[in-house]
Amino acid sequence: MSALIEFKGFNKFFGEQQVLKEIDLQVKPGEVIVILGPSGCGKSTLLRCLNGLEVAHSGSLNFNGRELLDKGTDWRDVRQQIGMVFQSYHLFPHMNVLDNVLLGPVKVQKRDRRDARAQAEALLERVGLLDKRDAFPRQLSGGQQQRIAIVRSLCMNPKVMLFDEVTAALDPEMVKEVLEVIQCLAREGMTLLIVTHEMAFARAVADRIVFMDAGRILEQNPPELFFTNPQTARAQQFLEKFSYVEALPKKTQTKELEPL
Ligand SMILES: Nc1ncnc2c1ncn2[C@@H]1O[C@H](COP(=O)(O)OP(=O)(O)OP(=O)(O)O)[C@@H](O)[C@H]1O
Ligand SMILES: [Mg+2]
Repeated sequence: MSALIEFKGFNKFFGEQQVLKEIDLQVKPGEVIVILGPSGCGKSTLLRCLNGLEVAHSGSLNFNGRELLDKGTDWRDVRQQIGMVFQSYHLFPHMNVLDNVLLGPVKVQKRDRRDARAQAEALLERVGLLDKRDAFPRQLSGGQQQRIAIVRSLCMNPKVMLFDEVTAALDPEMVKEVLEVIQCLAREGMTLLIVTHEMAFARAVADRIVFMDAGRILEQNPPELFFTNPQTARAQQFLEKFSYVEALPKKTQTKELEPL
């Protein structure tokens, strides 16, 4: 199967500092990639380049048969196909949940409001938040707001979702409810690129772990191999900080959700 996303010899600088170095990464449709690595190694920058939030320096980045580094790339169009959710959810505070979710489909994609609303409500129901459709963001917990942010992105019908430390700002008891939603998307075959510090989740959800250090990809392996037998000293050092991972069960026990 041909790749949905392909970075080839991809480089990115901030001023003099090269933060992504000769990145080669292929992602097939339906694959779940978890990107791990120490702080500052370039994980967020990699995702942001894919979404046009950062401008690449050189190399190639192909998405769904299109070269994104070409000058004429319509990033507005690309962003509709590549959903991204960050640590902070950026819901519009003056809009209720439903209006937040419908903004993209109706205003940007010019879809029929009734159709979009039916999809939005179905998605809200699946993440357990249909009863909050009229609430304002300030009336919701962090975990609820993050699930709304995910629904907002999904409602654009993207081909791939990027998650950058989406649980990092949440209280521990809210982390699980958000990770369950992502796990559900993974089970349904959605293509996902995930940056997380939740190692048990990474191990359970990933088809492949991409380990980065200082702007380079050092390893790309299935989670069982990466966590039990990392191939580089840097990955070993990184994992030692999470040494409790060895004691974890192979699959995290998560509540079964309705399919999204
Ligand atoms: N807008 C920017 N201007 C200049 N340098 C930047 C900018 N954004 C990131 N950097 C630098 O690029 C490098 C990679 O940053 P990036 O945010 O991608 O790392 P990360 O792996 O996501 O780290 P973390 O785990 O802390 O989120 C770092 O050295 C960072 O200081
Ligand atoms: Mg980051």
